[in-house]
Amino acid sequence: MLILNKFIGHGATRICFEHPQDATKCIKIATSSKNNKQLLRELEAYFSIQSYLSEYLLKYENEIISTNQGPGLVCELLRDDNGSYSKSLDYWLFQNKIDAEIISQLWHFSYCLIEHDIFFYDFNLKNFIIQKRNNHKFLYYTDLKSFENYKSWTFLKLEKIITPLARYLMIKRLRRLFKTLKISINRAKKHSLKECFCMAYPEPG
Ligand SMILES: Nc1ncnc2c1ncn2[C@@H]1O[C@H](COP(=O)(O)OP(=O)(O)OP(=O)(O)O)[C@@H](O)[C@H]1O
Ligand SMILES: [Mg+2]
Repeated sequence: MLILNKFIGHGATRICFEHPQDATKCIKIATSSKNNKQLLRELEAYFSIQSYLSEYLLKYENEIISTNQGPGLVCELLRDDNGSYSKSLDYWLFQNKIDAEIISQLWHFSYCLIEHDIFFYDFNLKNFIIQKRNNHKFLYYTDLKSFENYKSWTFLKLEKIITPLARYLMIKRLRRLFKTLKISINRAKKHSLKECFCMAYPEPG
């Protein structure tokens, strides 16, 4: 059994530790056993969408391992060139450092989701990590458990069978992300992406 003691970060339902035997990997643990199924959901999502989004995803190992903190999901650990853990998008926003390089990757990431009907619904800033490598910044989407899982009773899961509804709900969430980052949808370079955004949910004003 692996003993985890190097804390990296946490979200609402999971904690991330450095792998004790491999500093290039991290292990995600659910904070409560009722959340363990989220680890499997993330793994399943990874293997079904990997080929469409690989540049924005971490690499995952295809098994759940045993640790002193409970079952764990092993994936790549993001570090910057200086060896420190890469920081999530909320840090970059707080530092006022969301630049063109990050924005273009966010556009492209959104474009890939819409183009391939890959439906995620949780775009909170901590789910994105920016890695600084070779004088460039690389965007990663590190939390896949919202794949085809819209957590609201409003539409009674109709989005699972009505693709345009799923697309609408996802684009609404993406728009909220861009608004939080103070990025105007009108700056979307790819026209098809801009049209997708505007058709689904016109920007006020
Ligand atoms: N591969 C990684 N490398 C570095 N840090 C990571 C990595 N994966 C996750 N983290 C950090 O750990 C935090 C928790 O991970 P994750 O988002 O999977 O937890 P969660 O509880 O499922 O999130 P949520 O609050 O969105 O439900 C992330 O917000 C991120 O800051
Ligand atoms: Mg998260």
